[in-house]
Amino acid sequence: LVTGIGELVTMDPAHAPGTRYDDVPTGSAHRPHLGILEHGAMVVDADTVLWIGPQDSAPEADQRVDLGGRAVVPGFVDSHSHILFAGDRAREFEARMAGERYDGGGITTTVDATRAADQDTLVQHGGRLLAEMRRQGTTTVEIKSGYGLTIHDEAKLMRAASALSPETTFLGAHVVPPEFRTDRAAYVDLVTGPMLDACAPYARWADVFCEPGAPTAFDGDESRAVLEAAARAGLGLRVHAGQLGPGPGVALGVELGAASVDHCTYLTDEDIDLLAGAQRSGDAELPPGKPPAGPVATLLPGVEFSTRSPYPDARRLIDAGVPVAIATDCNPGSCYTSSMPFCIALAVREMGMTPAEALWSATVGGARALRRSDVGHLWVGARPDLCVLDAPSYRHLAYRPGVPIASVPALTS
Ligand code: NIG
Ligand code: FE
Repeated sequence: LVTGIGELVTMDPAHAPGTRYDDVPTGSAHRPHLGILEHGAMVVDADTVLWIGPQDSAPEADQRVDLGGRAVVPGFVDSHSHILFAGDRAREFEARMAGERYDGGGITTTVDATRAADQDTLVQHGGRLLAEMRRQGTTTVEIKSGYGLTIHDEAKLMRAASALSPETTFLGAHVVPPEFRTDRAAYVDLVTGPMLDACAPYARWADVFCEPGAPTAFDGDESRAVLEAAARAGLGLRVHAGQLGPGPGVALGVELGAASVDHCTYLTDEDIDLLAGAQRSGDAELPPGKPPAGPVATLLPGVEFSTRSPYPDARRLIDAGVPVAIATDCNPGSCYTSSMPFCIALAVREMGMTPAEALWSATVGGARALRRSDVGHLWVGARPDLCVLDAPSYRHLAYRPGVPIASVPALTS
């Protein structure tokens, strides 16, 4: 029994008196219903939220925890990360801050170091980053491969990923490695053939860095081949789209039924129309945990911060009715933060999202991007993934940037 919760953000519209599902524009993070219960309490066991309600009607329980008036929000769902790698690229970051442009070229530096590392070392290093995320309130993390780029090394990364999270993504199509630069088609054949065969047993998802303007990433046709092969192998789809310039990634993601299109730094009007049109009509009546038909737009504002790029137009997406997620993209190149609260603060300060929209996107939005209905909210029946804030309100996530107020409590012994 958890008591003394000053503000409990459930994301359940039933806890938002006077509001109705159909107040929410179709499939959107706009005016999200945070479902706030003041002076609430909850009963959880190791796997499930069993009861939520006012503290004065709380049932008996064999263990009690009092939070002394702190706020509780759903644990953050970080739906985009690359935490399995070796080495770091601090000097590349330093050069960027001095004016160098980010074009993904540094990825091969990480590939060299990652190929040289064994699976246990990668699990250990990834596990440290996961623990760092948890200390900042994150309870679900998607993990991509993509720094191996041989059958052996990608399979090693996928095994490591599946040791750390159920949300595992095969990203053999991260870049074309140097040894294939004169024969890109042969690399696409490898990724869509034997490398996919070796990695699919450990993968829930597949992803591709679709960026025709970046010499080592994949164009529209190559990306389509990668995604279609992955879908045939039974994997769900995600796309790195529009990070460095406009491209075909969003249209491809919509056409092929991707769960998420990520980055979305550069979108055309047509991209926004496609994303908005892909959301199921009547989605407003769905509970927040239920996935929409069209892709979520996953924004990664830590990347724009760490590459000095313009921020994506979150307002336009949200106002068009596109569900938006926020994730860290934690990786050694374009953004080495593990902090969802930092990304929430950026979303509010730099992308014009309200604190409520940013929190929704970091929880329900991330869950939708992973097509998960058991996380990202705190309804009865959800996973008991709590994030406790050393603060009276969720607004402090953006109001107190850089202050470690979010954490995941150890509730069960
Ligand atoms: O999401 N864009 C491609 N991949 C990563 C960056 C990888 C790196 O620079 O190491 C991203 O930004
Ligand atoms: Fe990424």
